[in-house]
Amino acid sequence: MQGKLYATDLFPIGQIDHRINSSLAEHMGRSIYGGIYDPDSPLADDAGLRKDVMAAVKELNVPLVRYPGGNFVSSYHWEDGIGPRDQRQQKVDLAWQSVESNQFGLDDFMDWTTKVDAEAMIAVNLGTRGIEDACNLLEYCNLDTNTYWANKRRENGHPEPYHVKFWCLGNEMDAPWQIGHKTAHEYGQLVNETAKAMRSLDPSIKVVVCGSSNEHTPTFGTWESTVLDECYDNVDYISMHQYYELPSKGTMHHVAKSIRMDQFINSVVALCDAAKATKKSDKTLNISFDEWNVWYHSNEHDAHLEPWQQAPHRLEDVYNFEDALLVGSSLITLLKHADRVKIACFAQLVNVIAPILTTKDGLLKQTIFTPLRDVSKYAHGTALRTSAQSPTYQVPEFGDVPYLDAVTVKNDDHHYTIFAVNRHQTESLDLAVKLNDDRLQETSHLSYSCTDPEFKNSPEQSVSEENIQDDGQIILKPFSWNVITFTV
Ligand code: AHR
Repeated sequence: MQGKLYATDLFPIGQIDHRINSSLAEHMGRSIYGGIYDPDSPLADDAGLRKDVMAAVKELNVPLVRYPGGNFVSSYHWEDGIGPRDQRQQKVDLAWQSVESNQFGLDDFMDWTTKVDAEAMIAVNLGTRGIEDACNLLEYCNLDTNTYWANKRRENGHPEPYHVKFWCLGNEMDAPWQIGHKTAHEYGQLVNETAKAMRSLDPSIKVVVCGSSNEHTPTFGTWESTVLDECYDNVDYISMHQYYELPSKGTMHHVAKSIRMDQFINSVVALCDAAKATKKSDKTLNISFDEWNVWYHSNEHDAHLEPWQQAPHRLEDVYNFEDALLVGSSLITLLKHADRVKIACFAQLVNVIAPILTTKDGLLKQTIFTPLRDVSKYAHGTALRTSAQSPTYQVPEFGDVPYLDAVTVKNDDHHYTIFAVNRHQTESLDLAVKLNDDRLQETSHLSYSCTDPEFKNSPEQSVSEENIQDDGQIILKPFSWNVITFTV
């Protein structure tokens, strides 16, 4: 099969914000307990943090981690997780009907982010709490004043403010399952007042308002319009969440689902720009795609979970190769929207629908780990409009789907990187590349392919990554994720 790719500096999409490689660490399942924090493990450091997990997170090069949820945040009291550990109380977690030990909390998370070289994005509880609590939390994190909460932080061993820049105002507040769910009108007003109060404490912060929890909700669209009508002037980003479900329509449909992400982003951009026009505002709202992933492998197991356990195995999806290709295409999609998607959090980071799965003795890097790591490592610079042509196939919902999905990034004046997926399961794709600078020479071609869509990494066997010598002809193997670099 033949394919053609053309890209030029004359048509830039936008500067890539490295924060599109971010993630979520929620208090649920074994994400924190048994994942990030595991004090009884021989693999933990003096603070109880898993060293092998930190090394894997650093390999993923995650720039920002959203915390503490997710649904969890909507009934969380962050004060329960600070101060001496032996004085912290166990509480119920209403979102996941679990027992929260509070042995890990805000300061512990901030220490962990320093160790993994990541920035924190903190979500505030707008489910069961409100403006005052959000301001107290912001004071605790960011203020240098001689006042109660800033002094509490000092008492807890952190003299310097954390200067957390990104703040999520609630989580999925449109969703009926959310503790403290609100109507769009109620939520929009609350966000406006919370954002105003928080900014008066710290004008340097950036705030994220909740968009719809997914594109299929009956209120999608009207939720965004109503909420933005209330708070447009006081927010900086709108959130998007999307999870791909069971591949009930087969592999070829599954690996095309990134088209849904593309359509969803286009819709939310249109809604934001309509709000901008209505408000006669100069400000353009950007997107924080702060939850996305494939999520279905664990559904059957999780349907039978007993409530009120502590850190049960929950949402522990074990990913296969077709999921990895879908994750790769989704990353390509995020890069194609580099002008508007400025933050994206892969959900989640450890154990819960995650690329890193721990056991007592070590960890497994799942199939999805490779594309996430590659984009974080190589997608620096400007995303370019990329014309990628190839034969297509037909699937219900998406119609004609090209086998080739690709985007080009101009890293700097001397380096370019192409990220490409060949969706064909049996045929390789011979790719003719034309970039604007004819002096560009291909310098490396990383290829990640597997003939079995259902193959899952295990301690015994993982999909191998190859560095291909193309000898002037770029061949994308069947069913493959590719990173091809060029240098002048
Ligand atoms: O990531 C798992 C859950 O999915 C999050 O808690 C919630 O925000 C979403 O519904």
